[in-house]
Amino acid sequence: MTLMRDPKMSPEGKATETVRKRYNRIAPLYDCMEGLVERSRYSKWRDLLWSKAEGTRILEVGVGTGKNFPYYPADADITAIDFSEEMLERARRKANKQKIKVLLQQMDVQKLDFPNSSFDSIVGSFVFCSVPDPVRGLKEIERVCKAGGRVVLIEHVLSANRVLGWLMNLANPLSVWTAGANINRRTVDNVRKSGLEVEHVTDLAFGIFKLIEATKKA
Ligand SMILES: C[S@@+](CC[C@H](N)C(=O)[O-])C[C@H]1O[C@@H](n2cnc3c(N)ncnc32)[C@H](O)[C@@H]1O
Repeated sequence: MTLMRDPKMSPEGKATETVRKRYNRIAPLYDCMEGLVERSRYSKWRDLLWSKAEGTRILEVGVGTGKNFPYYPADADITAIDFSEEMLERARRKANKQKIKVLLQQMDVQKLDFPNSSFDSIVGSFVFCSVPDPVRGLKEIERVCKAGGRVVLIEHVLSANRVLGWLMNLANPLSVWTAGANINRRTVDNVRKSGLEVEHVTDLAFGIFKLIEATKKA
Protein backbone atom coordinates (compact mmCIF):
# COMPACT_ATOMS: atom_id res chain seq x y z
CA MET A 1 0.00 0.00 0.00
CA THR A 2 1.63 3.27 -1.11
CA LEU A 3 -0.47 5.33 1.32
CA MET A 4 1.57 4.15 4.29
CA ARG A 5 4.72 5.77 5.71
CA ASP A 6 4.65 8.78 3.37
CA PRO A 7 6.23 11.81 5.15
CA LYS A 8 4.05 14.21 3.13
CA MET A 9 0.88 12.42 4.16
CA SER A 10 -2.43 14.33 4.07
CA PRO A 11 -4.52 14.67 7.28
CA GLU A 12 -6.85 11.96 5.85
CA GLY A 13 -3.83 9.72 5.21
CA LYS A 14 -2.63 10.28 8.78
CA ALA A 15 -6.07 9.41 10.21
CA THR A 16 -6.10 6.21 8.16
CA GLU A 17 -2.59 5.33 9.32
CA THR A 18 -3.60 5.83 12.97
CA VAL A 19 -6.55 3.43 12.62
CA ARG A 20 -4.47 0.89 10.70
CA LYS A 21 -1.80 0.87 13.42
CA ARG A 22 -4.49 0.50 16.09
CA TYR A 23 -5.82 -2.65 14.34
CA ASN A 24 -2.29 -3.98 14.00
CA ARG A 25 -1.99 -3.65 17.80
CA ILE A 26 -5.42 -5.20 18.48
CA ALA A 27 -4.91 -8.12 16.04
CA PRO A 28 -3.31 -10.63 18.48
CA LEU A 29 -6.23 -10.14 20.92
CA TYR A 30 -9.06 -9.71 18.43
CA ASP A 31 -10.42 -13.27 18.38
CA CYS A 32 -10.53 -13.64 22.18
CA MET A 33 -11.84 -10.06 22.73
CA GLU A 34 -15.16 -11.02 21.17
CA GLY A 35 -15.21 -14.79 21.90
CA LEU A 36 -18.32 -14.95 24.06
CA VAL A 37 -20.50 -12.58 22.04
CA GLU A 38 -19.25 -14.27 18.86
CA ARG A 39 -20.71 -17.60 19.93
CA SER A 40 -23.91 -16.27 21.49
CA ARG A 41 -24.95 -13.74 18.83
CA TYR A 42 -22.55 -12.86 16.02
CA SER A 43 -22.41 -16.36 14.52
CA LYS A 44 -26.18 -16.27 13.81
CA TRP A 45 -25.87 -12.78 12.34
CA ARG A 46 -22.95 -13.79 10.13
CA ASP A 47 -25.00 -16.69 8.79
CA LEU A 48 -27.84 -14.29 7.94
CA LEU A 49 -25.41 -11.76 6.40
CA TRP A 50 -23.87 -14.25 4.01
CA SER A 51 -27.25 -15.73 3.06
CA LYS A 52 -27.98 -12.32 1.47
CA ALA A 53 -24.95 -12.32 -0.85
CA GLU A 54 -25.72 -13.11 -4.49
CA GLY A 55 -23.69 -14.05 -7.56
CA THR A 56 -20.26 -15.61 -7.79
CA ARG A 57 -17.88 -12.63 -7.70
CA ILE A 58 -17.92 -11.48 -4.08
CA LEU A 59 -15.80 -8.94 -2.20
CA GLU A 60 -15.48 -8.96 1.58
CA VAL A 61 -14.24 -5.64 2.96
CA GLY A 62 -12.47 -5.40 6.33
CA VAL A 63 -12.02 -9.17 6.55
CA GLY A 64 -10.13 -8.84 9.86
CA THR A 65 -8.95 -12.22 11.17
CA GLY A 66 -11.37 -14.11 8.91
CA LYS A 67 -14.32 -14.64 11.23
CA ASN A 68 -16.67 -14.82 8.25
CA PHE A 69 -14.81 -17.69 6.54
CA PRO A 70 -17.13 -20.47 7.81
CA TYR A 71 -20.10 -18.65 6.27
CA TYR A 72 -18.69 -18.10 2.77
CA PRO A 73 -20.97 -19.55 0.08
CA ALA A 74 -19.55 -22.66 -1.58
CA ASP A 75 -18.26 -22.20 -5.13
CA ALA A 76 -18.10 -18.41 -4.93
CA ASP A 77 -15.04 -16.55 -6.17
CA ILE A 78 -14.23 -14.45 -3.09
CA THR A 79 -11.70 -11.66 -2.67
CA ALA A 80 -11.24 -10.23 0.83
CA ILE A 81 -9.38 -7.06 1.75
CA ASP A 82 -8.15 -5.35 4.91
CA PHE A 83 -5.63 -2.55 5.42
CA SER A 84 -4.09 -4.07 8.57
CA GLU A 85 -1.30 -6.51 7.74
CA GLU A 86 -1.53 -8.04 11.23
CA MET A 87 -5.25 -8.80 10.87
CA LEU A 88 -4.61 -10.14 7.36
CA GLU A 89 -1.79 -12.38 8.55
CA ARG A 90 -4.20 -14.05 10.98
CA ALA A 91 -6.81 -14.37 8.24
CA ARG A 92 -4.20 -15.98 5.99
CA ARG A 93 -3.31 -18.58 8.66
CA LYS A 94 -7.01 -19.28 9.30
CA ALA A 95 -7.73 -19.66 5.57
CA ASN A 96 -4.91 -22.21 5.25
CA LYS A 97 -6.02 -24.13 8.32
CA GLN A 98 -9.71 -24.17 7.36
CA LYS A 99 -8.91 -24.71 3.64
CA ILE A 100 -10.89 -21.63 2.63
CA LYS A 101 -10.62 -20.54 -1.00
CA VAL A 102 -10.18 -16.76 -0.81
CA LEU A 103 -7.87 -14.18 -2.36
CA LEU A 104 -6.61 -11.98 0.52
CA GLN A 105 -5.25 -8.55 -0.34
CA GLN A 106 -3.99 -5.60 1.69
CA MET A 107 -6.05 -2.62 0.60
CA ASP A 108 -7.75 0.50 1.95
CA VAL A 109 -11.51 0.41 1.35
CA GLN A 110 -11.36 4.19 0.81
CA LYS A 111 -9.18 3.59 -2.25
CA LEU A 112 -9.96 0.22 -3.79
CA ASP A 113 -7.63 -1.11 -6.42
CA PHE A 114 -10.37 -2.77 -8.53
CA PRO A 115 -11.96 -1.62 -11.79
CA ASN A 116 -15.53 -0.27 -11.79
CA SER A 117 -18.33 -2.87 -11.66
CA SER A 118 -16.10 -5.80 -10.59
CA PHE A 119 -18.33 -7.62 -8.06
CA ASP A 120 -21.83 -9.11 -7.85
CA SER A 121 -21.99 -8.66 -4.07
CA ILE A 122 -19.96 -6.81 -1.46
CA VAL A 123 -20.16 -7.89 2.17
CA GLY A 124 -18.78 -6.45 5.40
CA SER A 125 -19.25 -6.91 9.13
CA PHE A 126 -18.41 -4.30 11.77
CA VAL A 127 -16.18 -2.32 9.39
CA PHE A 128 -17.63 1.14 8.75
CA CYS A 129 -17.48 2.03 12.44
CA SER A 130 -13.72 2.33 12.06
CA VAL A 131 -13.10 3.48 8.47
CA PRO A 132 -11.87 7.09 8.88
CA ASP A 133 -14.01 8.45 6.02
CA PRO A 134 -16.93 5.99 5.84
CA VAL A 135 -18.79 7.75 3.00
CA ARG A 136 -15.66 7.68 0.88
CA GLY A 137 -15.28 3.95 1.58
CA LEU A 138 -18.93 3.30 0.76
CA LYS A 139 -18.61 5.28 -2.49
CA GLU A 140 -15.71 3.03 -3.43
CA ILE A 141 -17.90 0.01 -2.75
CA GLU A 142 -20.62 1.52 -4.92
CA ARG A 143 -18.06 2.05 -7.70
CA VAL A 144 -16.75 -1.53 -7.73
CA CYS A 145 -20.21 -3.12 -7.41
CA LYS A 146 -21.94 -4.19 -10.63
CA ALA A 147 -25.18 -2.38 -11.57
CA GLY A 148 -28.01 -4.19 -9.78
CA GLY A 149 -25.46 -5.83 -7.44
CA ARG A 150 -25.89 -6.15 -3.69
CA VAL A 151 -24.12 -4.58 -0.73
CA VAL A 152 -24.80 -6.28 2.61
CA LEU A 153 -23.42 -5.01 5.90
CA ILE A 154 -23.74 -5.67 9.61
CA GLU A 155 -22.92 -2.54 11.56
CA HIS A 156 -23.50 -1.09 14.99
CA VAL A 157 -24.94 2.41 14.77
CA LEU A 158 -25.93 5.32 16.99
CA SER A 159 -29.13 4.51 18.90
CA ALA A 160 -32.23 6.58 18.04
CA ASN A 161 -33.08 6.52 21.76
CA ARG A 162 -32.04 9.94 23.09
CA VAL A 163 -30.59 8.75 26.40
CA LEU A 164 -28.76 5.78 24.91
CA GLY A 165 -27.57 7.93 22.00
CA TRP A 166 -26.20 10.51 24.47
CA LEU A 167 -24.38 7.76 26.38
CA MET A 168 -22.95 6.34 23.16
CA ASN A 169 -21.63 9.77 22.15
CA LEU A 170 -20.11 10.13 25.61
CA ALA A 171 -18.44 6.70 25.51
CA ASN A 172 -17.25 7.00 21.90
CA PRO A 173 -13.70 8.30 22.57
CA LEU A 174 -13.02 5.39 24.94
CA SER A 175 -14.34 2.88 22.40
CA VAL A 176 -12.17 4.38 19.64
CA TRP A 177 -9.11 4.31 21.88
CA THR A 178 -9.58 0.74 23.11
CA ALA A 179 -11.19 -1.08 20.17
CA GLY A 180 -10.75 1.29 17.22
CA ALA A 181 -14.53 1.46 16.70
CA ASN A 182 -16.80 4.51 16.67
CA ILE A 183 -20.06 3.53 18.35
CA ASN A 184 -21.93 6.66 17.29
CA ARG A 185 -21.99 6.49 13.49
CA ARG A 186 -25.11 6.88 11.34
CA THR A 187 -24.10 4.18 8.90
CA VAL A 188 -27.51 3.75 7.25
CA ASP A 189 -27.44 7.46 6.30
CA ASN A 190 -23.84 7.06 5.15
CA VAL A 191 -24.83 4.18 2.84
CA ARG A 192 -27.50 6.44 1.31
CA LYS A 193 -24.95 9.26 0.90
CA SER A 194 -22.72 6.91 -1.11
CA GLY A 195 -25.36 6.64 -3.86
CA LEU A 196 -26.39 3.07 -3.00
CA GLU A 197 -30.09 2.34 -2.63
CA VAL A 198 -30.95 1.06 0.85
CA GLU A 199 -33.57 -1.69 0.44
CA HIS A 200 -33.94 -3.13 3.94
CA VAL A 201 -32.62 -2.36 7.39
CA THR A 202 -33.18 -5.12 9.95
CA ASP A 203 -32.72 -4.43 13.62
CA LEU A 204 -30.66 -7.30 15.03
CA ALA A 205 -30.45 -6.11 18.64
CA PHE A 206 -31.25 -3.11 20.85
CA GLY A 207 -31.80 -0.71 17.90
CA ILE A 208 -27.99 -0.61 17.66
CA PHE A 209 -26.96 -3.64 15.60
CA LYS A 210 -28.31 -3.46 12.05
CA LEU A 211 -28.29 -5.62 8.95
CA ILE A 212 -28.21 -3.20 6.02
CA GLU A 213 -29.15 -4.46 2.55
CA ALA A 214 -28.50 -2.11 -0.35
CA THR A 215 -28.26 -2.31 -4.13
CA LYS A 216 -26.39 -0.40 -6.76
CA LYS A 217 -28.89 1.31 -9.05
CA ALA A 218 -29.08 -0.47 -12.39
C1 LIG B 1 -14.00 -4.56 13.99
S1 LIG B 1 -12.96 -5.29 12.79
C2 LIG B 1 -14.12 -6.41 11.98
C3 LIG B 1 -13.40 -7.56 11.33
C4 LIG B 1 -14.32 -8.61 10.68
N1 LIG B 1 -15.09 -8.04 9.60
C5 LIG B 1 -15.24 -9.26 11.69
O1 LIG B 1 -16.44 -9.27 11.49
O2 LIG B 1 -14.72 -9.78 12.70
C6 LIG B 1 -12.79 -4.00 11.58
C7 LIG B 1 -11.84 -4.39 10.46
O3 LIG B 1 -11.91 -3.39 9.44
C8 LIG B 1 -10.60 -3.10 9.01
N2 LIG B 1 -10.59 -1.74 8.45
C9 LIG B 1 -10.89 -0.58 9.09
N3 LIG B 1 -10.73 0.46 8.26
C10 LIG B 1 -10.35 -0.05 7.07
C11 LIG B 1 -10.00 0.53 5.82
N4 LIG B 1 -10.01 1.86 5.65
N5 LIG B 1 -9.67 -0.29 4.80
C12 LIG B 1 -9.62 -1.64 4.98
N6 LIG B 1 -9.90 -2.24 6.15
C13 LIG B 1 -10.26 -1.46 7.18
C14 LIG B 1 -9.74 -3.25 10.27
O4 LIG B 1 -8.38 -3.44 9.99
C15 LIG B 1 -10.39 -4.46 10.92
O5 LIG B 1 -9.80 -5.66 10.49
